[in-house]
Amino acid sequence: MSLSLYDQMQQTVEVIRQKTSIAPKVGIILGSGLGAFADSLEGRTVIPYGELPHFPTSSVPGHAGRLVVGTLQGAPIVAMQGRVHMYEGYPPAQAAFPARVLCALGIRSLVVTNAAGGIRADLAPGDLMAISDHINLSGAHPLTGHNDDRLGPRFPDMSTAYDPALLKLLQTTADRLKVPLKEGVYVWLSGPSYETPAEIRFLRTVGVDAVGMSTVPEVIVASHMGVRVAGISCITNLAAGIGRKPLSHSEVAQTADRARDRFTSLLTHFLPAVAEQP
Ligand code: HPA
Repeated sequence: MSLSLYDQMQQTVEVIRQKTSIAPKVGIILGSGLGAFADSLEGRTVIPYGELPHFPTSSVPGHAGRLVVGTLQGAPIVAMQGRVHMYEGYPPAQAAFPARVLCALGIRSLVVTNAAGGIRADLAPGDLMAISDHINLSGAHPLTGHNDDRLGPRFPDMSTAYDPALLKLLQTTADRLKVPLKEGVYVWLSGPSYETPAEIRFLRTVGVDAVGMSTVPEVIVASHMGVRVAGISCITNLAAGIGRKPLSHSEVAQTADRARDRFTSLLTHFLPAVAEQP
């Protein structure tokens, strides 16, 4: 008989605990081109996803696919360098499995990051945007199917999925560092094609600020498991039809790289502050 999701998570957690004695309090998922931050963790244990049972592995350039456990100014952290996406062929529950494992490891807060296309007029390539809320327009959902009540409720409340206290802490941290940080609503579309200009006009009309192909499945499962979430998008390009250039993954990766120092500085100060939250 196949293992339940719950038992799979327990097995993966056990393998991680055999490799490190650090018990992380905060998890971070590093999106496209943003993975380098994990290299700044101290005393780190690096585990390729391929060594973790039930972990999906990524095929996208810029998504290394390693779990890094270490500390940042004494705060115990687990980082995912790279993630998988639904467009790679993974059902959303499976794409979100690693986030569930982080939650089962005992983190109390999860910080999610991604590369996104900017829709709102004031969002420019290279900007960082705190995610205040999301819209799921992917047509899929990671909690579809049997609900295991040990993980969370059948109908989880999402009204504070992006924890207001963490959002405030993120903004005050950015202000203190003088790192400009905008705020807005992220939409999840399935991809893998970028959007059409008509889709972008539609998204702007319904109140979307930035668009991407990830993150929302992880936020939903973390929220399902009672873990607080904060989110940061790196705006890597103007969404389709806004700028003149065709969209490309290399532009996304290059812009994420350009934002690296600001992004790293923000996380270096934000994550230890998150770890101190009650
Ligand atoms: N659309 C969707 N996903 C993205 C984009 C975009 O413009 N940029 C980075 N990820």
